Amino acid sequence: MATIGIFDSGCGGLSVYRELIKVLPKERFLYYSDNAHCPYGEKTAAYIRQRARVITDELLAKGADIIVVACNTATAAAIGTLREEYPAVPFVGMEPAVKPAALGTQTGVIGVLATAGTLKGSKYLNTRGLYEDDVRIVEHVGQGFVELVEAGKLDGPEAESTVRASLQPLLDAGADKIVLGCTHYPFLRPVIERIAGPSVQVIDPAPAVARQTLRLLQERSIPVGQGPFSVELNSSGDPSALRRIFALL
Ligand code: DGL
Repeated sequence: MATIGIFDSGCGGLSVYRELIKVLPKERFLYYSDNAHCPYGEKTAAYIRQRARVITDELLAKGADIIVVACNTATAAAIGTLREEYPAVPFVGMEPAVKPAALGTQTGVIGVLATAGTLKGSKYLNTRGLYEDDVRIVEHVGQGFVELVEAGKLDGPEAESTVRASLQPLLDAGADKIVLGCTHYPFLRPVIERIAGPSVQVIDPAPAVARQTLRLLQERSIPVGQGPFSVELNSSGDPSALRRIFALL
């Protein structure tokens, strides 16, 4: 049985956890929500790196064999540093799914929703650079999305108007693919899809991240599939937000 550590600024990483348990149904999961320091979106990279070190130490102390950085913003700010400072530990990070969006667009326009930290990170800018000659890439911060999800407001008038404010500019630009570049956003997917309509496809990279986690475990010969399954929820702040979203899964 492998022990898989997962962390995010809050409960967003549960959108990755729910894909992980599909491909790894018999492992031990340790989830860490850093909600005392959420949101990460506007924090400095140095601040996020420091939080990532503290959380990594805690997950390793609890026996993690692999760490999934289930947060695009923390991946952008910290994954290079984590790989350097913990060379023996396998890390899996998030990557906005620009490639499948760019390859599949009919309108030639793709939209990316992410935090400010992700959109200015070199990882995203490099990926963007690979495709921007071929397709038009329009971006918007999902303003207020993280706060909605942490508050458990996944639908209703407030969710609708908050999502519309950030999504509409991408739709107006002609995007027919919307890339979810923050792990909180998939919890708003029904609202996003309702506003975007049936001609727009919403893309979440979490299934690909789950498959990559399995690949990495197998590459490192960490035994999987033997059970028993378990999950432990940890948070740096009030655990009720995490429990609420967890109960939905
Ligand atoms: N869920 C995170 C992400 O993927 C963090 C959002 C935030 O804390 O601002 O970017």
